[in-house]
Amino acid sequence: MRSLIDIQQLSIEEIDELIALANDIIAHPDDYREKCRYKKLATLFFEPSTRTRLSFEAAMYELGGQVLGFSEAQSSSAAKGESVSDTVRVVSGYADIIAMRHPKEGAPLVASMAATVPVINAGDGGHLHPTQTLTDLLTISREKGRLNNLTIGVCGDLKFGRTVHSLIAAMARYKGMKFALVSPEELKLPSYIKKEILQQKHIDYVQTTDLTSVMPELDILYMTRVQRERFFNEEDYLRLKDSYILTPEKLQNARSDLSILHPLPRVNEISTAVDDDPRACYFKQALCGKYIRMALILKLLEVA
Ligand code: CP
Repeated sequence: MRSLIDIQQLSIEEIDELIALANDIIAHPDDYREKCRYKKLATLFFEPSTRTRLSFEAAMYELGGQVLGFSEAQSSSAAKGESVSDTVRVVSGYADIIAMRHPKEGAPLVASMAATVPVINAGDGGHLHPTQTLTDLLTISREKGRLNNLTIGVCGDLKFGRTVHSLIAAMARYKGMKFALVSPEELKLPSYIKKEILQQKHIDYVQTTDLTSVMPELDILYMTRVQRERFFNEEDYLRLKDSYILTPEKLQNARSDLSILHPLPRVNEISTAVDDDPRACYFKQALCGKYIRMALILKLLEVA
């Protein structure tokens, strides 16, 4: 029985296998329709979600399985004070696999120690979001045909954005990567990620507040939302929320083969005028999330 809490638990070979499996599911969906017959997925979401929860649920249904769960803490016995450990011990008797989102960093890890079925971290606080990273890697590999020798600009809330933390940790393991870290001063990438990942692996990176200055170099531009729910002070959020708004004008000096990604939801950080640009990949990315989660469920249930 194996859980997925942190993308670093997966080797490059395992990630490649998941991507290959997701691509096979996309090419031959009928071959997978019955793979999880009689299996159940529990989605325990203590925080709001559209893509992650619904793509997990769609993934299980498309594999022929069933889904149970809750979408907010208030509708579970967490509202009465039940611990995460007790919750997953109980749910382990009802489902074959659990996807959990929780506002507290480390909660899915705690859950994985108490559960008797695999637990998937579907996002914990401002910490990690490994299935978003798998989604991003599938999208990048489909758009670029490779996961190495890429210059990636990550832009927005690099302090609280868990998708960025997981993406940098994953991409840093591939050869020839360069990063441009673009954020307001107050929302810079945490120094432990710079030290423990980028500096330790001698990865080339620049840190700037100016998106335009790095735009011409980028193969991938990964935009992120300023994470309102992680701020202690609404005034700070309001001051910083529109720091970067990607518009067609700002893309004028970008490469013609740039791929623009965003984990979504977006608020203001990408103008809807960019949506028709062939370089905009974020809706395709959201669809990739369903296929990679199908692949992950199959692997963790040892069905494929
Ligand atoms: N990208 C992502 O995690 O979206 P949701 O919060 O809607 O699940």
